[in-house]
This record gives sequence, C-alpha cells and structure tokens, in this order.
Amino acid sequence: MRKKVNKKTHFGYKEVDEKDKSTHVGDLFSSVAENYDIMNDAMSLGMHRLWKKILIELAAISENDVILDIASGTGDIAKLISKEYPNTEIYMTDINMDMLSQGRDRSINESFYKNCHFCQLSGEIMPFGDETFDVITIGFGLRNFTNKEKGLEEMRRCLKKSGRLLVLEFSKPINPIFSQIYDWYSFNILPKLGSILVNDSESYQYLAESIRMHPDQELLKSMILESGFKKCKFYNLLNGVVSIHVAYDE
Ligand SMILES: C[S@@+](CC[C@H](N)C(=O)[O-])C[C@H]1O[C@@H](n2cnc3c(N)ncnc32)[C@H](O)[C@@H]1O
Repeated sequence: MRKKVNKKTHFGYKEVDEKDKSTHVGDLFSSVAENYDIMNDAMSLGMHRLWKKILIELAAISENDVILDIASGTGDIAKLISKEYPNTEIYMTDINMDMLSQGRDRSINESFYKNCHFCQLSGEIMPFGDETFDVITIGFGLRNFTNKEKGLEEMRRCLKKSGRLLVLEFSKPINPIFSQIYDWYSFNILPKLGSILVNDSESYQYLAESIRMHPDQELLKSMILESGFKKCKFYNLLNGVVSIHVAYDE
C-alpha cells in the first residue's frame, strides 16, 4: 500500500505539514495576545499606526459601507474605521479567539463596539455569501495563512463587484543597503526586544523569518490578480518594508 505523503509548507524557516500550520500559528498568537500591542509599538517605533491610517485613506470608505476586517487581532484597523466612519458596519474577524477577545475587550474599553460584529473565522474559508462586503481589509495577516491563494479567492468571492480589497503586509525593501540594515535589525534586535519586553524571543524570530518567506510586492500582486481580481496596485511604505496592495474586481 502506498504511504500517504503530507503536503508541506513553511512556518517561518521551518518546514511543517500543511495540516499543522494553523495550529503553530494559533499557538504563537495565543502566546503573544496579551502583549501584542506593546510589542507592535516597540518593534515599529509606532510606525504601524501610520501605516494603518494610510490603509484607511486608500480604502476610500463611505458611510454605510459594510466592511470585513480579516485577521483583526486587537482591532487597530476596526477602531480607526469605526471612529472615522461611525455609520459603517464592521465585521472584526480572526482565527484566534485569544487575539479576537483582546480586540473585543478593547472595543468596549475604547468605545468602538457599536458598529462592530465579532466572528472567529479563518480568512481561508469564510461563512459569508458572495459579494457581501464593500471593503475588505487585512493587516499583517495574510503572511500567516496556510494557503494564501485560497484566502485571496475567498476575499474576492465575498467582495462586491464595486468593492476594494486592501492588504497591508510586510514586504521587501527596495534599497539593498537599507535591506541589509533591516535584516540585521530583524534577526538581531527583534528577538532581543521580544525577550526583554515580553520574555519571548521565539515568536519574534518567527516574525523575522515569516517576513522573509512571504511573497514580495510584485509576486503578491500577481497572486492577487491570479485569484480573479481585475486590477491591483501597490504602495511601498518605508522603502518597501511594508506595502499596501489595493485590488479591485471591476
Ligand atoms: C500580526 S497579527 C495582525 C493583527 C492586526 N490586523 C494588526 O494589524 O495589528 C496577525 C493576526 O492574523 C491572525 N490569523 C492568522 N491566520 C489567520 C487566518 N487563516 N485567518 C484569520 N486570521 C488569521 C492571527 O490570529 C493574528 O491575530
């Protein structure tokens, strides 16, 4: 009898069985959930706040839009949308209950829960009907998916024809010297920061590795187009350390 071969994928630089990746990702985010916001500010020197504001500007949201935020985590993106567009309806979603709970608690403490719904779900298979949302956002989430292609197809399916998908994700610096400094920072400083601030270097070693394994700007753009979107453009931020892809279906 032929032995069943498990499909492989990456968890950072490690090769793991595809079926186990979401468990690894889940364990990791459960372990960082409580300290996620502190570390985000420390690692990016607060710059992630600006990147998320730019994402909201590019989303060209209108009041009354129905918005899906995938991999919401602690809810930075939902909060910005909710405060600026109080008449929108926002679905805050995440595969991980520990992260989503942080986001839900925060929405109550910081008063942005009124136009938010909370759903635990994977962006790779979503319980929404076709063409439900005006805008779909995902911030620093796609990198962690087991099957990014499947996730992008789901996003396209759930988006109205007139809608926009916005993907904020780590990417590839353009300048080679800057790229070397960034590599040094990622593999030497990030894990140490994790160790000093939250007693966890491993999760931040994963972060650095997962960024290197993620498709660069051009490749992600072609993946988005292959998933069925008709147009896609991207904006590089901080020399391409981060990029925002905006995709349209018409
Ligand atoms: C780095 S955090 C980003 C949180 C937030 N969007 C932000 O920008 O601060 C990544 C989030 O993606 C979530 N995630 C990972 N895989 C996912 C999947 N397949 N579907 C939905 N969420 C996922 C994790 O649970 C985690 O909360």
